Amino acid sequence: MTASRTAPLTRSDYAPGQATVHSDPARLARVTRTLRAAGRRIALVPTMGALHDGHRELIQHARRLPNTIVVVSIFVNPLQFGPNEDFDRYPRSFAADLAACEEERAELVFAPQVADLYRDGAAVTLNAGPLGDELEGAVRPGHFGGVLTVVAKLFNIVGPDFALFGEKDYQQLVLIRRMARDLDFDLSVVGVPTVREDDGLALSSRNVYLTGPQRTSALALSAALAAGAHVSAGGADAVLGAARAVLAASPEVELDYLELRATDLGPAPAEGDARLLIAARVGATRLIDNAPVLLGSPDQDTDASR
Ligand code: PAF
Repeated sequence: MTASRTAPLTRSDYAPGQATVHSDPARLARVTRTLRAAGRRIALVPTMGALHDGHRELIQHARRLPNTIVVVSIFVNPLQFGPNEDFDRYPRSFAADLAACEEERAELVFAPQVADLYRDGAAVTLNAGPLGDELEGAVRPGHFGGVLTVVAKLFNIVGPDFALFGEKDYQQLVLIRRMARDLDFDLSVVGVPTVREDDGLALSSRNVYLTGPQRTSALALSAALAAGAHVSAGGADAVLGAARAVLAASPEVELDYLELRATDLGPAPAEGDARLLIAARVGATRLIDNAPVLLGSPDQDTDASR
């Protein structure tokens, strides 16, 4: 072991109560390893920046875990964007993101450059398996391989005890859980319910692309999910029928898919817990959302109906 791996931390490594920014993976790894050796637990909140209240909720959730230091990573990961996607115009707002981390009292911020994480390019990457080619993966080939590659790297660098992800990207959450299990990562993957505007719109960094009228149209996604969940006692056909009826009244919403699946995204059960997932384009903006549904049970309100 080299001296730098064991040297005591200085205030430029970690300053309790402040958000210390790191860009060097090796240095951050040393900081989190030292903190863990001193008995602290590490909670990682991976983000691509453009932090909104959904990210703040993840940080708050992480802070409530006992004895935990929160690390927020901010990195727009080129590997998960297709050639015709919005990597170049993805919103980047580091100063505001850092202010949000400080307000939420995250104590470590990992903000590497692309060259810090992919030093010699990225010749070796992860394959997300068959589920990686379904739903979002069918429309965005290679997307989940890119997500899992960067998340695995973050797990290796940060060495977290907990990693928190929003349920808004439900397929991503399922695949990360699967990766953690299949690749033996020794950590808990924590899913946090979607945060919504008062009118139901799921918070997303991509909502900034929507014009006023498009934002109104986008409400059809959460309304469709809520309508489906409301009739879940009637089973799968009732759920999908009710959701489709809402979408039919919003022709400006171009549907990519509306699917009912099991909670692990296998085939939907006839009864019990399931997940209703939707993806659609509103203008040039692609939006996704999902909600839990309890098939064959009495009427329910979902988090999409708020
Ligand atoms: O959900 C996101 O913001 C990204 O996919 C993640 C998990 C930070 C990986 O780049």
